[in-house]
Amino acid sequence: MAGVWRRSCVMQPNGRASSRITQPAVPPASATPATPGASPQPTITPAPTVTVEPTATADPTPAPGGSPTVAVSADVAGATSGTNDDATANLLAAMNPTVIAPTGDLVYEDGSAAQFAACYEPTWGRFKDKTRPAPGNHEYHQTNAGPYFDYFGAAAGARGKGWYSYDVGPYWHAIALNSNVSMGSTSEQITWLKADLAANPDKCLLAYWHRPRWSSGTSHGSSTTPHYAVQALYSAGADLVLVSHDHNYERFAPQNPSGGYDPIKGLREFVVGTGGAPMNGFNTPLPNSEVRSSSTYGVLKLTLKQGSYDWKFERAAGGTFTDLGSSTCHNVAAPAG
Ligand SMILES: [Fe+2]
Repeated sequence: MAGVWRRSCVMQPNGRASSRITQPAVPPASATPATPGASPQPTITPAPTVTVEPTATADPTPAPGGSPTVAVSADVAGATSGTNDDATANLLAAMNPTVIAPTGDLVYEDGSAAQFAACYEPTWGRFKDKTRPAPGNHEYHQTNAGPYFDYFGAAAGARGKGWYSYDVGPYWHAIALNSNVSMGSTSEQITWLKADLAANPDKCLLAYWHRPRWSSGTSHGSSTTPHYAVQALYSAGADLVLVSHDHNYERFAPQNPSGGYDPIKGLREFVVGTGGAPMNGFNTPLPNSEVRSSSTYGVLKLTLKQGSYDWKFERAAGGTFTDLGSSTCHNVAAPAG
């Protein structure tokens, strides 16, 4: 394909969504200059077909010779995203991660089948074969998030549950949770989580879902909904929590379930709601909030190593913010030296 096309996701008056290609974001190097007076002839992509047949999913296989990578962002596509989701999708194409883990609100406004087909499919849907999603509250604008489970099939976990886990390379275990259904202390989801953590005692651990346990964002802020998940993860020595819901980027220092600074066992939470939807700002930063941005769309890239991880916020074209760092994990020792 020559060039990278920007696409507007347009809602029609009848409430259906359509996709319209408008202009190339970056002129292709080999493009022939436009002839004065000639009409440009962009290729119109036909409406994509939604695949509804679930298929069995296997643990993703890292590319040989390198540590596996996970791309995290959320709050992605829809009529109000303009071409921001095209820009973050272009980042995914360049990054070519092992896994893409979007943490919910994948298509606005309502997570309908038409919106998935017209707005999500042409951008982040290009990478559906490596996507392991978690649902957001906007997917639940549809009854039991039906179109979400239709669209992703088995990759989204069991229909009606939406929680599941998988290994990423030899040292890391990833857990997707659903903050739109019960996360109570005796809920099926938390009972499953505790069993899954017990079955993986010797892995570095990351977990992701939609509603942040901690957020300084103005739109939603912190939620106690995931408290028991955070408690179970902390007790098991988990390392990373990845969430969204607020449309911005925020990195926290490692914390215990009460939000206290804990550099020894603490969970490091990232809010990454920078996939394309209009941004939200921040209130007074919470204790242990280390880095914030509400100006740059992008994707958090995690490189998962033996006993450690690197993070880097990869910014979309036009952005100026970035963030990067490294940390050791709790349950797997890094190689000596
Ligand atoms: Fe949300």
